[in-house]
Amino acid sequence: MDLWKKFRNWFTWVSRPLPEIVRDFYQEITVRGRKFVLRPATRDDIAEMILVERLAYAGDEPWAEEIFYDLLSQPHNSLFILLREPETNSLAGYVIASFRPGIKDVHISNITVAPDWQKRGLGTFLLSYVMTVAHQIKFRRVSLEVRVSNQGAVSLYKRLGFEIVRTRTQYYEDNGEDAYDMAQMLGDSNEDVNSELSFKNDRS
Ligand SMILES: CC(C)(COP(=O)(O)OP(=O)(O)OC[C@H]1O[C@@H](n2cnc3c(N)ncnc32)[C@H](O)[C@@H]1OP(=O)(O)O)[C@@H](O)C(=O)NCCC(=O)NCCS
Repeated sequence: MDLWKKFRNWFTWVSRPLPEIVRDFYQEITVRGRKFVLRPATRDDIAEMILVERLAYAGDEPWAEEIFYDLLSQPHNSLFILLREPETNSLAGYVIASFRPGIKDVHISNITVAPDWQKRGLGTFLLSYVMTVAHQIKFRRVSLEVRVSNQGAVSLYKRLGFEIVRTRTQYYEDNGEDAYDMAQMLGDSNEDVNSELSFKNDRS
């Protein structure tokens, strides 16, 4: 990256950090008839996120603990969105999104639903929420990487409007597997964006 580009990215972060309204959210939501609490993660959530990550990625190398702490310490450009089941307070799933204002792209760094909660629409909800936030703050694109073997996730992303942009060969260090770069453009009239979802704080 050349110096000018680095400076422009830095200036964009400093002049336009992720708005407070996007970072400070709390909602009670219903997905397929079940109630969940949607809220940002704190450092106290990380141990449980790692536990859920290990269960969900059985066989694949999960993220190192430092990556969670590192991203959580960047609230100006990273958003940790948790779904907890209110009766047991157990962590049902989460998504971590990184905002790149220079190119108006929201990158989904991690999306995980606990095995017991999979196939109940939570992955779809979390992705739709990120797409809605991106759309509402006028970002143009949502992107992610996925293992080529993760066909369940790839078909979910396609169903939500993501397309394969390119294949990165031998992207994953654990087994040398290829990754798909997937992305979708959020136009003004994007019909995949659920207009009923929005960032808000029901406690304030
Ligand atoms: C990928 C992942 C996040 C999806 O979350 P999820 O909550 O299971 O997703 P959803 O329930 O919204 O939808 C998943 C699929 O199950 C299907 N499904 C949803 N409800 C269902 C039901 N009641 N019965 C059967 N199938 C159902 C959906 O149609 C979808 O199928 P598709 O493959 O045709 O798109 C989750 O499986 C996960 O955490 N996997 C392990 C980690 C991982 O691979 N993360 C992604 C890395 S890029």
